[in-house]
Amino acid sequence: MNIALRPWREDDTDAVVEACSDPVTARFMPFLPQPYTREDAMAFFRHKPGDLAVVDPATDGVLGAVGSTPRGEGIAEVGYWVMPAARRKGVASAALEGFATRLFESGLQRLYLVTALTNGASQRVAVAGGFVREGVARGSSRTRDGGWQDMVVWARLAGDPAGPSARVLPDLPGGALTDGVVTLRPIVEEDGPSTYQMRSLPDVSGRSVVSTPMDPAVVTRQCAESASKWLAGQRAETTIRDATDSTYLGEIALFYSEPALREAMIGYSLTPEARGKGYAARAARLITDWGFEIGMARMIAGTAPDNIASQRVLEAAGYHREGLQRSRLPGPDGTRIDNVQFAKLRPAAT
Ligand SMILES: CC(C)(COP(=O)(O)OP(=O)(O)OC[C@H]1O[C@@H](n2cnc3c(N)ncnc32)[C@H](O)[C@@H]1OP(=O)(O)O)[C@@H](O)C(=O)NCCC(=O)NCCS
Repeated sequence: MNIALRPWREDDTDAVVEACSDPVTARFMPFLPQPYTREDAMAFFRHKPGDLAVVDPATDGVLGAVGSTPRGEGIAEVGYWVMPAARRKGVASAALEGFATRLFESGLQRLYLVTALTNGASQRVAVAGGFVREGVARGSSRTRDGGWQDMVVWARLAGDPAGPSARVLPDLPGGALTDGVVTLRPIVEEDGPSTYQMRSLPDVSGRSVVSTPMDPAVVTRQCAESASKWLAGQRAETTIRDATDSTYLGEIALFYSEPALREAMIGYSLTPEARGKGYAARAARLITDWGFEIGMARMIAGTAPDNIASQRVLEAAGYHREGLQRSRLPGPDGTRIDNVQFAKLRPAAT
């Protein structure tokens, strides 16, 4: 995307008011006043003279904003927004790259940015700009409704390699995996209600290793944070949908728990209506093959000894039973239960 950076001008006021009144901007920049007025825009021009307009070089029309705040010697924090109509065209990525290059050329040592854990779009911009994920600052920012939210810190240092930062879990090719019957797509915030409904089923929550509070708002937040975990290389969580009509069938995830061993684990659940039709085995095959494509040497999965349906799914997906791990899984009421370990090895290159 071709962009240019220039100082703000008074005739940019309408564009700034429009962008800062947009609900997505208001959500992820909760420090902006709402409603956002022309006076707010003029005050912004006066108080942040180093901030720049991101413009279309052909028309000089405003596409977005990028700016920084000094945070001690050699260190600055960067922020940006893009006009709603100009999003998903690479504007923010290009602006961040251009702006960061200027700052490093003028002697900056560390440029960092802080995004809400739920702001997947901004974290993708950070990756595109060569920023490295450093960690989560818990409860470190207000939400618009007066609560607190977790934020992710991303930073780029002078001397870091140019180009996007490395990812151990890339995107799915073309954004999805499909075999023509089921389609796997990354979980997004909008999957919250279906995910909550399914995870609340006693036979799903009862088989889950990680017990989380079954609250619709918590599950929706977890869905919104899913993109962040994927970018962090921790897990790739997808919904399983009917490839023809997109009906929600369940979910499947690849947990990259053993990077040093190039070993990842899969876990899945289906809605009751979707069971008994081979969908879980199809989804397991798709995500397992993708795991091998992105470099896994071993894919593993575990089930409780009495979970025969899940063991059949793994066998149908080409997994082999490796053995019984005693008391590996948390059971009901503080008990422990055995885990039947399954694994599938990366096929030998032909
Ligand atoms: C975050 C924001 C600046 C992104 O601007 P943008 O110009 O659309 O970003 P880009 O086009 O450079 O997109 C970068 C990547 O994110 C992806 N992306 C952008 N918006 C997305 C969305 N809503 N959902 C999922 N992915 C998204 C793009 O597809 C692109 O992916 P790629 O790296 O595979 O090409 C814009 O959504 C915005 O203004 N949001 C409100 C303000 C805000 O959140 N600011 C940042 C606060 S920390």
